[in-house]
Amino acid sequence: MPYYRSVGEVPHKRHTQFRRPDGGLYSEELMGQEGFSSDSSLLYHRHPPTAIVSAEVYEPAPHKQAANLPLKPRHLRTHKLGHGSADAVLGRHPLLANNDVRIGYVVADQPSPLYRDAIGDECLYVEEGTATIETTFGALTVGTGDYVIIPTSVVHRIVPDGPIRLLTVEATGHIGPPKRYLSVRGQFLEHAPYCERDLRAPSSPLQRDGTDVEVYVKHRAGWTRHVYAHHPFDVVGWDGCLYPWAFSIHDFEPITGRVHQPPPVHQTFEGPNFVVCSFVPRKVDYHPLAIPVPYNHHNVDSDEMMFYTGGNYEARRGSGIEQGSISLHPSGFTHGPQPGAVERALGAEAFDELAVMIDTFRPLDMCEAAFEVEDTAYAWTWNR
Ligand SMILES: [Fe+2]
Repeated sequence: MPYYRSVGEVPHKRHTQFRRPDGGLYSEELMGQEGFSSDSSLLYHRHPPTAIVSAEVYEPAPHKQAANLPLKPRHLRTHKLGHGSADAVLGRHPLLANNDVRIGYVVADQPSPLYRDAIGDECLYVEEGTATIETTFGALTVGTGDYVIIPTSVVHRIVPDGPIRLLTVEATGHIGPPKRYLSVRGQFLEHAPYCERDLRAPSSPLQRDGTDVEVYVKHRAGWTRHVYAHHPFDVVGWDGCLYPWAFSIHDFEPITGRVHQPPPVHQTFEGPNFVVCSFVPRKVDYHPLAIPVPYNHHNVDSDEMMFYTGGNYEARRGSGIEQGSISLHPSGFTHGPQPGAVERALGAEAFDELAVMIDTFRPLDMCEAAFEVEDTAYAWTWNR
């Protein structure tokens, strides 16, 4: 998505002879979105990226999911999820899902296998910890507060430096900045709350050797484990506008006003039928009679999921919401500040809150793990 980068060695002219030191040709690969009519990159491999030696079905642990019935606001405590040793791909706990997006959570302390999500882009949010994300494009070092966007079908693995807490967002399609932040040619505009300087991408290719290398593929029909003849991280250079990238929530510049600003000012990314927003520490509304917490509101076309990832979320005080909590405020239910929150907030000059919100246009189902860590008293906390 974001903008053109060139990393490592690439030939002067695309689709021309580009030779290895031993005289053989590098294998050129075009990765392109939307039928090669949108963003793409060209990668140059030492070995053909097509050479697989085996394929077998992989069956992930089954999980049940159920509609949000009866319709209720929900509170999930992610830090209560059972976790032994896990990796950041196969160890995910799916929590909320529909046909557009699957939201999960994992505490990972093991390197993941090589993995490609052929269904859509993934957005990982690092609640806590650091990791290296190795990809065919090179490595990204990520830490607390980072969003990481991994485009569809990019082979990668997640190598934590110690336990890392991740909110995982798996889309059915592509995730990027909202179009209204971009010029017609894709440059971030002056009103956007972040821009190119805030984005990080791999700066040098990885050059791994290896034979018979397993790659787990999540695809439209299920999961398959491919074995590649050569290690997929054998790229000597790439260029283009499609690559994995990272962006820290702490580089999101909040938009504030004299009176309360609507949720779209917090928007960070858009995906197919969902948006991702960042609520960051900020000065709050400065009209002398301003009410800094949100009004009661009903986002009639969306389910609103909020992940509370730092500070104190003023509007939810007294509700049991804590670090690592997820609230789900579904379409069909009006939500707003908890009792007493409006009065407490009057005169406040700044909020120290950090939260990631995902609004989906289609209803979110609850997955099995969500029911296991649900605080069932949350729905009644406005009635106090
Ligand atoms: Fe809301």
